[in-house]
Amino acid sequence: MAIDLCGIALEHPVINGSGTFDVIAARRVFGEALDTEFPFSAFVSKTITLEPRLGNPPPRLFETASGLINSIGLPNRGLAGYLEHDLPELSSLPVPLITNVMGSNADEVGQLFEALEGCTEIAAIELNVSCPNVKTGLDIGSDPAELSKLLGSVRSKTSKPVIVKLTPNTANVALVASAAEASGADAVSLINTLRAFAADPSRPGKAWLGGGTGGQSGPAIRSVALAQTVAVSSAVSLPIVAMGGISTAANARQFLDAGALIIAVGTESFRDPATAAQIRDGLVALS
Ligand SMILES: Cc1cc2nc3c(=O)[nH]c(=O)nc-3n(C[C@H](O)[C@H](O)[C@H](O)COP(=O)(O)O)c2cc1C
Repeated sequence: MAIDLCGIALEHPVINGSGTFDVIAARRVFGEALDTEFPFSAFVSKTITLEPRLGNPPPRLFETASGLINSIGLPNRGLAGYLEHDLPELSSLPVPLITNVMGSNADEVGQLFEALEGCTEIAAIELNVSCPNVKTGLDIGSDPAELSKLLGSVRSKTSKPVIVKLTPNTANVALVASAAEASGADAVSLINTLRAFAADPSRPGKAWLGGGTGGQSGPAIRSVALAQTVAVSSAVSLPIVAMGGISTAANARQFLDAGALIIAVGTESFRDPATAAQIRDGLVALS
């Protein structure tokens, strides 16, 4: 079950999806038991941005028939807060740490890369490119040319492996993945949430979520995630971290068979925090 992800030795192919497992809170509840039976072979932080963000106004979550729509809005302490408060705790986890970052332009991403470069506790960077372009309103990672430009200007600012977390909200994810590969990505991860709208039942035409629109995740997006994994794995030779509605070892197996090297568990961990451990054990049984 051991895997090499861009030179990082992992004990098995199951990690977490960014923003879906609050390991600091979980440690407070489960104490040492969490570390001895740690469910993930690497831990991915929630997205951090250069400046602190409060996130979107509530309500932030809407349950759907088969998953949820979130409009959390990336609340985080910002780079300085992450380095001071979160990193010391995250770096004591028993697995390699992948820090997820997002910037709204190359300058911000470059500053984040440079600031993390000296942090030996961080094994790799995951770059979330689902940030809206302030001019076009489209995700910056939705256009292959724009993504190439971004990576071209920031890639040299870090020697750490860079995993580009692709946005699924694009016309052709394979083209975007190819652009990431050509511009220096070491791996790609997919899928992030799909843009979605939750209607307020008591206010016709109005949004339920405080942020207006949100992102759909969970089993509802699994078939889309699988389709995008198949498309990306035929387009690039980079390692692929696949996610999107993975709830069982059988689901995980399908993503690995579709070309993923690693799979991540996201929304399902909210329903049952033991899911990732069950998937890891289930994959052994299936192999
Ligand atoms: C509540 C919530 C918060 C999330 N926060 C982040 C985040 O901070 N950064 C990120 O790149 N993805 C974030 N995601 C996306 C997940 O990492 C994952 O890509 C997506 O949910 C699909 O996987 P899943 O269906 O297994 O949840 C978030 C998803 C959820 C549901």
